[in-house]
Amino acid sequence: MPHNAAKPVAAASAADDAPILFFDLKTQAKRLRADIEQRLMRILDHGAYIGGPEVAEVEAKLAAHAGAKHALAVASGTDALVIALMGEDIGPGDAVFIPGFTYNATCNAVILSGATPVFVDVDPHTCNIDLKHLEAQIEMTLRDGKLKPRKVIAVDLYGLPADYAALNKLAAKHGMLILADAAQSLGGAQGGKHVGALTDMSATSFYPSKTVGAYGDGGAMFTDDAARFERWSSIRWHGTDAAKRESIRVGINGRLDSMQCAVVLSKLTIFDDEMKARHRIAKRYREGLGNAVELQHVPLGTESAWGLFTVQVDNREAVQKRLTDAGVPTSIYYFKGLHEHRAFARFAPKGGLPVCERLATRVLSLPMHPYLNDRQLDRVIGAVKAAV
Ligand SMILES: Cc1ncc(COP(=O)(O)O)c(C=O)c1O
Repeated sequence: MPHNAAKPVAAASAADDAPILFFDLKTQAKRLRADIEQRLMRILDHGAYIGGPEVAEVEAKLAAHAGAKHALAVASGTDALVIALMGEDIGPGDAVFIPGFTYNATCNAVILSGATPVFVDVDPHTCNIDLKHLEAQIEMTLRDGKLKPRKVIAVDLYGLPADYAALNKLAAKHGMLILADAAQSLGGAQGGKHVGALTDMSATSFYPSKTVGAYGDGGAMFTDDAARFERWSSIRWHGTDAAKRESIRVGINGRLDSMQCAVVLSKLTIFDDEMKARHRIAKRYREGLGNAVELQHVPLGTESAWGLFTVQVDNREAVQKRLTDAGVPTSIYYFKGLHEHRAFARFAPKGGLPVCERLATRVLSLPMHPYLNDRQLDRVIGAVKAAV
């Protein structure tokens, strides 16, 4: 068994005066290199590139970490969403409610399933789905009578879990299911439970810059429901039933290969240490920036995974340019609400989604990765204060 001999975050962090990076995968790669090489060599030795022992091993570790009964490794976060929809036979005639301020993959998955996305506005402070507007959109869909409300995909934007206690209650009232799009929030928590165990089912992404990233695409799904997990397993493998050797449903090639599982296994050995660093960084940013910019509101009892550190500013383009000139890289997630994209405009609600539209002009993400040291953070804080 490869073991983790990696140095802790503090010892791996950049020199105080090193350029500030938005994400830093190279420092992490240096930290884990020996362990990853050992794990990859093992795969070259056993030769099971698909479905090797690393798959079951990573699934067991992910489930244990999240506190969910089952975890399934899949080829991407998008496949995780698609499989979660296919697993409930969601398709034409079904309404799936999604926040209007998220990555396009959330919406693509719904359309690929054949269902209709119904956009919901978001809360201006948490940036997550607005419960009141969700309820209104469900009522409107029921009154309209053309679509059957089946599922809500709640997105944990920037790593902040949505309000699952309220969502679970609302879903039960309407006989619907909740799918957590936890692509940005693995490592987050709420009410003493981890992301992956907060609702009926959860989907995450191992895109390299996520809180746990592969060296390529990857993702995972979580549930406590054994029958649901069986359906997902067969959908992931072309709808095959391994025992009966036949296709028992329509499926996809949604597998995560052994090498990516090995990379994720290695990343998991330092995950808790990296999460501690993300919390330290977020705390310093929040203490330093609270008076200068609008921070994302973190409700009591909820812990963000700090996949991204995003603030709201007036006059964003000018602020961003000043930060670039000061050597502080920034990024914008996202430039538009879903309903403002050409591909999704046909689903735009009458009157638009005012909060999504406003956030799209104001959000600005600052450097966030576990290897930022305090001197670098203070440089970012100083530059932001000077730029706003
Ligand atoms: C909110 C959200 N959902 C879904 C995805 C899709 O994940 P992937 O790129 O692994 O398919 C992402 C990835 O960036 C995301 O941020």
